[in-house]
Amino acid sequence: SRSGRRSCAARCAQQDPLLLRVARGEEAERTPVWLMRQAGRYMAAFREYSDRIGFRERSETSSIAIELSLQPWRAFQTDGVIMFSDILTPLPALGIEFDVIKGKGPRIDNPIDSMEAVRALRPMDDPLSRLPFVHETLSTLRSEIDGSGATLLGFIGTPWTLAAYSVEGKADRNCRRTKTMMFNNPAVLHALLEHLTEALIAYVGYQIEAGAQVVQLFDSWAHHLSPEQFAEFSMPYSERIIAAVRAKYPHVPLIFHANGAGGKHALLAQSTADVIGLDWECTMAGARQAIGSNRTLQGNVDPMVLFGTEDQIRKAVTRCLVEGGPRHHILNVGHGVIEGTPEESVGLFCELARQSADILAAH
Ligand code: CP3
Repeated sequence: SRSGRRSCAARCAQQDPLLLRVARGEEAERTPVWLMRQAGRYMAAFREYSDRIGFRERSETSSIAIELSLQPWRAFQTDGVIMFSDILTPLPALGIEFDVIKGKGPRIDNPIDSMEAVRALRPMDDPLSRLPFVHETLSTLRSEIDGSGATLLGFIGTPWTLAAYSVEGKADRNCRRTKTMMFNNPAVLHALLEHLTEALIAYVGYQIEAGAQVVQLFDSWAHHLSPEQFAEFSMPYSERIIAAVRAKYPHVPLIFHANGAGGKHALLAQSTADVIGLDWECTMAGARQAIGSNRTLQGNVDPMVLFGTEDQIRKAVTRCLVEGGPRHHILNVGHGVIEGTPEESVGLFCELARQSADILAAH
């Protein structure tokens, strides 16, 4: 199916957008760029909405979600446009209600604590009626950017990361409730992971049918897991999603981004994702060696670098481009853009990707 996906570009009259081609493993004229959490409070235009409108309403009203998705693309010409939404957005469709408290992050009032609670969850049987705004947002974004050279990204949280949110109810430094369940009641955790996996397969399909061209899996809470725990409670479930999506939509590349995966590169090398996202605790050169020369790697500049001087930003991005490229690399930050980041630093970051062919030629 990999070669089938490659030859599609040759068949299509108009060339596919840059990021999509690189995610598929194709050669390209330069390194594409986007930033995780590129829509956010660091942008004045975003704050005009976030100061007035709560997160659920902002992300679940298509007209607003579309505008917030497009803001960083208009301002910085990112090669990727990511739907403004959240990894928790699909949970209410399963019967898990959440809210995002300003300054504190997501809250789930009735965390999952038993097999009964898992059995009471709904399947993702009718996303169009339960999550209609996701379809509206993605399909409109797709028609807005088609022909511009940009790629539309959908995303999900992995089963492990969503299970951890659903069991904790909020971020916990030690992931205590979920890991207590892992040790004392693993059958409940596996049942929850199982349920989320099936729901997420349906939800990714829904995003793709609506127009998502690349889908990223965020395993944001992978850093809580030892390599052995990651191999049992995270990767097999993400891999099932990747396999199911690949079987049905072989033309859609998948990005797997696990936070804190520095000690897990040997496992990541076994992932079947098209693209492996990396945080900044590794060098691109080290990751390249561990994961292989033919896989597209995404990352991995420390987002705090964007608080540094222009010189420091140039230096960090150049090192990342040189070590990560010239082929099979998508420039990104190693984790989401941080509130307070100067907008002009994000602009410079994206500009350096547009100059990547010259930067790489000079090295
Ligand atoms: O990347 C983008 O620009 C698209 C939008 C996006 C959001 N969340 C918007 C959002 C994406 C891709 C996410 C994914 C997400 N959400 C992750 C994975 C990425 C990562 O950081 O590892 C995680 C762990 C979440 C859970 C989540 N949602 C947290 C921790 C928070 C609170 C953060 C805060 O600053 O308060 C949210 C809410 C949220 N989702 C915000 C945004 C812009 C901030 C709150 C707001 O805008 O009101």
